[in-house]
Amino acid sequence: MVVKSNEKSRSVERPGPFVKGILDGIETGVILLDRGEKIIFANKASEEILGKKGDLLLGKRLLSLLSQGNESLGGKGGDGTIFFQKGKENTPLKLSIFPYHDYLGRERGKVASLQDMTHVYKMHGEIVKMDRLAYLGEFSSTLAHEIRNPLAGIKTTAQALNEELGNDDPRKEYLDRIIKEIDRLNDLLRTFFSFAKPKHLNLAPCQIQDLIKEVKGLLAKEAENRGIKIKEIYGNGLPPIPLDFNQMQQVFMNLFLNALQSMSAGGKLTVEIKRRNLPRGWIQVKVKDTGVGIKPEHLPKIFDPFFTTKSKGLGLGLSITHKIVEGHGGKIEVESSQGNGSTFILDLPVKIDDGSQA
Ligand SMILES: Nc1ncnc2c1ncn2[C@@H]1O[C@H](COP(=O)(O)OP(=O)(O)OP(=O)(O)O)[C@@H](O)[C@H]1O
Ligand SMILES: [Mg+2]
Repeated sequence: MVVKSNEKSRSVERPGPFVKGILDGIETGVILLDRGEKIIFANKASEEILGKKGDLLLGKRLLSLLSQGNESLGGKGGDGTIFFQKGKENTPLKLSIFPYHDYLGRERGKVASLQDMTHVYKMHGEIVKMDRLAYLGEFSSTLAHEIRNPLAGIKTTAQALNEELGNDDPRKEYLDRIIKEIDRLNDLLRTFFSFAKPKHLNLAPCQIQDLIKEVKGLLAKEAENRGIKIKEIYGNGLPPIPLDFNQMQQVFMNLFLNALQSMSAGGKLTVEIKRRNLPRGWIQVKVKDTGVGIKPEHLPKIFDPFFTTKSKGLGLGLSITHKIVEGHGGKIEVESSQGNGSTFILDLPVKIDDGSQA
């Protein structure tokens, strides 16, 4: 094809105010490249996605900007998901680049569209986790059931044998020990069952600070022995919220116990309760310790069943806690850094969302 002398200048133009207004209003990042593949326009969404102001983008080559760590992008163009280093985060972006032709079919530049895929990646991770939890729940329930039946048989036989022996028979001691160990195994299996079985919520309005006081009372001796002070900070006018008292008591038992166990050399456990009104009534409870903290590589796993770093832990406390909080329509998150303690943050709705209220 013969290239006419004026063709070089025939590059895509910056959009006028009307088109710019439309492009700035959409959520997808739209970037226009001239024939030299340099950026001549970037809409608001693309500035946000790339974390750079428009004037820092203009004149740059888009592919060099995106290509750190994405060798596959090459010099020609890209289509697919890439990872873009935005600050400290590695953000997944869906990128497509297509040529822009004029009415004579001549290429005048390129249009790139960018979509932030972070939420899709997060959702995918959640689905995989939920599948694993469902499988584990089913598996532990079957296993617990299969072990419980023969265990009941062993216990009955041991008890029968125990009764046949005279009161002063020294062999009674062995049988007592067997029966005690069977009871311990049964307790363990009950914990597995309580994890596997979805529990019905027995809701009744409750002042959350009363519940915390109850748990504090149960653990006061343990805290004292470890040289740990428990501090309570309660906001004014906290409304009663619908809770299953027993289940929620288990939540705070698990959180308090973990906190105490993280402070072997003494420390402070702070419980803070306040009201949050966005988007509707929420109560926020923070359980904060000054313990060893959680390693960053452990943070994504601590709510998984059977994840533990303790020699005698089952790794079920937090997964049960998570399940109960979600059952109440709430959420639980953690903030922690190694050596600086941990804070578990619970948000509980003042009303359970049964679909009937605003
Ligand atoms: N407050 C905390 N401080 C430091 N690490 C914590 C804290 N809470 C939880 N963890 C970490 O999360 C892991 C999982 O906690 P989780 O309560 O589920 O199980 P566990 O305490 O190990 O065993 P158990 O089943 O007896 O509760 C712990 O082993 C620990 O590594
Ligand atoms: Mg625990």
